[in-house]
Formats: sequence, structure tokens, C-alpha cells
Amino acid sequence: MVSETKAKIVYMELLREDLVIIRIVPETGMPEYKTGQFLTIGVPIPSEQKIVRRAYSIASHPENRDYFEFVIRWVRKPLPGRVTTELFYANEGDEVSLGAPTGQELLIDNKLPNGQPDMRRIICVGGGTGIAPFVAYAKHLHDTGDKRQVVVLHGASYVDELSYKRLFTDLQDESIERGKDQWNFIYGPAISRPKEFFNRSWNGHVGRVESWFKPNKQGISPIDELVGEEVTPANSKIYICGYQGLIDGVIENLAPKGFVTKDEKHPDGSYEIKYESYG
Ligand SMILES: Cc1cc2nc3c(=O)[nH]c(=O)nc-3n(C[C@H](O)[C@H](O)[C@H](O)COP(=O)(O)OP(=O)(O)OC[C@H]3O[C@@H](n4cnc5c(N)ncnc54)[C@H](O)[C@@H]3O)c2cc1C
Ligand SMILES: NC(=O)c1ccc[n+]([C@@H]2O[C@H](COP(=O)([O-])OP(=O)(O)OC[C@H]3O[C@@H](n4cnc5c(N)ncnc54)[C@H](OP(=O)(O)O)[C@@H]3O)[C@@H](O)[C@H]2O)c1
Repeated sequence: MVSETKAKIVYMELLREDLVIIRIVPETGMPEYKTGQFLTIGVPIPSEQKIVRRAYSIASHPENRDYFEFVIRWVRKPLPGRVTTELFYANEGDEVSLGAPTGQELLIDNKLPNGQPDMRRIICVGGGTGIAPFVAYAKHLHDTGDKRQVVVLHGASYVDELSYKRLFTDLQDESIERGKDQWNFIYGPAISRPKEFFNRSWNGHVGRVESWFKPNKQGISPIDELVGEEVTPANSKIYICGYQGLIDGVIENLAPKGFVTKDEKHPDGSYEIKYESYG
């Protein structure tokens, strides 16, 4: 049996013709959930005379009891995606179905296997709409007064796909103003098609987002320069959401430094890389 509730779309913000931020409020009130989880949105497909459901990462944080937020790509090739096409034709006020929040892959680890607090920096790597869970991370860690350093790396093809640039820039500015002992946040956007005319104003990091981890001839990578020290298993934990190629690219660069994934684990049960693949 599918456990779901009716819900209403209360806000839609079209960032470009195929990228939208949507807020949805369940009829039965906001359930409890954990940062990094996803849920299914169901929409009726008239031609199929049934509700079709798809998974979407929750971009809002659990402390926000007003609505769920999502950032969704309209899938158009090779054929229009069924659920995303319906969502892109939806309006504020329309009804959808929501499944219960679920998923364990991107939950934030707060403790080491020995029970001690895990105070390593949190490095989030999001490709495209794979940034969604890390929007929730940043807001949650900010609102709960977490003292760990939080680094959010976001990769996009075009500058207008850096969907949460304003939020992350504000969080970084706040970190500078208040001091890193109060709130320690760094934003690292990356543009993978820098030569395209639309990206002509871009002068930040170029390449796919995994290139932040690629060492130069001296063994120093852009992420080391961004945080001001070598990123090691002892000082950093990595969370990734995006294409499998992105996940593989990060692991390829970090494995020689001793980083292992949750699937492999060190003999003491610890690990430094967690991920959710677009699959
Ligand atoms: C855990 C998880 C979290 C996710 N989070 C997000 C998120 O935050 N944001 C987001 O945008 N997406 C997210 N997704 C992806 C999302 O679940 C959907 O897969 C996506 O939105 C496409 O759904 P759709 O119904 O529009 O496309 P579908 O109809 O399922 O189509 C999928 C693909 O198949 C192709 N296709 C469809 N019909 C045919 C056909 N007859 N022949 C050949 N090809 C065909 C389409 O062109 C498309 O490429 C997430 C997925 C998972 C598993
Ligand atoms: N958890 C999930 O399962 C999940 C979450 C979010 C989205 N999705 C689905 O994933 C699909 C695409 O997502 P999107 O539109 O957000 O991505 P996108 O905007 O098309 O791409 C984002 C970034 O990923 C790069 N990229 C493209 N193909 C790649 C590959 N094979 N390996 C590594 N990097 C790659 C792009 O580089 P280039 O400029 O070089 O192409 C770009 O920098 C959508 O259908 C979406 O619904 C799934």
C-alpha cells in the first residue's frame, strides 16, 4: 500500500524554462523528517488514467515547518518526462500527492563509530539539481548552530542553473561577518561550459564540479586551496549527489589520499564518502 497524502502547490519559481523551485504543503501538516531525505511527488497523468510518482530530494530543512521545497528539472529528451511535464504545466493551488519522506544515503553523520562527535568539515558536492539535499544541509546546519565547517560545491552547465547562488553567497557572507567560530561556511560554484556565450560573465571555477578535487602537479587541488589546507580523511567528510560520473570522479581523486566510501569502510567501521546517484 502506498502511504501518501494530498498536498497543495503553494509557490512556483521558474528559474529558466526547464528549472523550477516548487513549494508544496501537505494537507495533513508537515511530517517529521531528516535532512538529506527525499519523497515521492505523484501527479495524475490523464492519458494513463493513473497517478505516476517520482522521487525528489527535499531542499527545505526539517526545522522549516511551513512547506517542502524542491528544485526540479523538466526532463524533455528523448521524450518529455511524464511527471516533470505535468509539474511544469501546474499552477500554484494545484493538488499533488506526496509520499512519506524516506532515504538513508545522505543523512548527516554526527558521530564517529566510537561514539565521539564527528567534528570534521562537511564537504557537499552537488551536480545540477543534485544540489537539493545540500540546500537542506546548509539551512539545517546554520539553524542548529553547528560549529563544523560546511563547504558547498555546486556544478552547473550554465550560470542561471546555479539555483541557490544567492542563498549560499549570503551564508558565506554571514560566515565572514560573524566569524568562523560562529558559522563557518564556504560556497564553491563551478561552471562546466565556460566557453558558451551565455556564461561570458563567469570568472569563477570552471569545469565539472568534481574538478575541485583534481590535484595539480604539486599534488594540490582547488578544494585544498579553497579551504586553506589539504583535505584529508582526518579533517573532512564528503557527501555527493548527482550523476554517477560525478561520484566516480570525486572518488577517483580522493581514494589515493585514503578516503573510502560507506560501502567499503575502514576496519573500525569509519568512512569518509557518502553519496546518492541520479541512477
Ligand atoms: C532519490 C532521488 C531523488 C531525486 N531528486 C530529484 C530532484 O531533486 N530534482 C529532480 O529534478 N529530479 C530528481 N530525481 C529524478 C526524478 O525522480 C525523476 O526521475 C525525473 O524527474 C524524471 O521523471 P519524469 O516522470 O518526468 O520522466 P520519465 O517519464 O520517468 O522519463 C525518464 C526518462 O525516460 C525518457 N523516456 C520517457 N518515455 C520514454 C520512451 N517511451 N522511450 C524512450 N525514453 C523515454 C525520458 O525522456 C527521460 O529521459 C530524483 C530521483 C531519485 C531516485
Ligand atoms: N537523486 C537523484 O536521483 C536525482 C537528483 C536530481 C536530479 N536527478 C535527475 O538527473 C537528471 C539530470 O540532472 P540535472 O538536469 O540536474 O543535471 P544537468 O544540469 O544536466 O548537469 C549538471 C552538471 O552535471 C554535469 N554532467 C552531465 N553529465 C554528466 C555525467 N555523465 N557525469 C558527470 N557530470 C555530468 C554537467 O556538465 P556538462 O555541462 O559538461 O554537461 C553539469 O555540470 C534529471 O533527469 C533529474 O531529474 C536525479
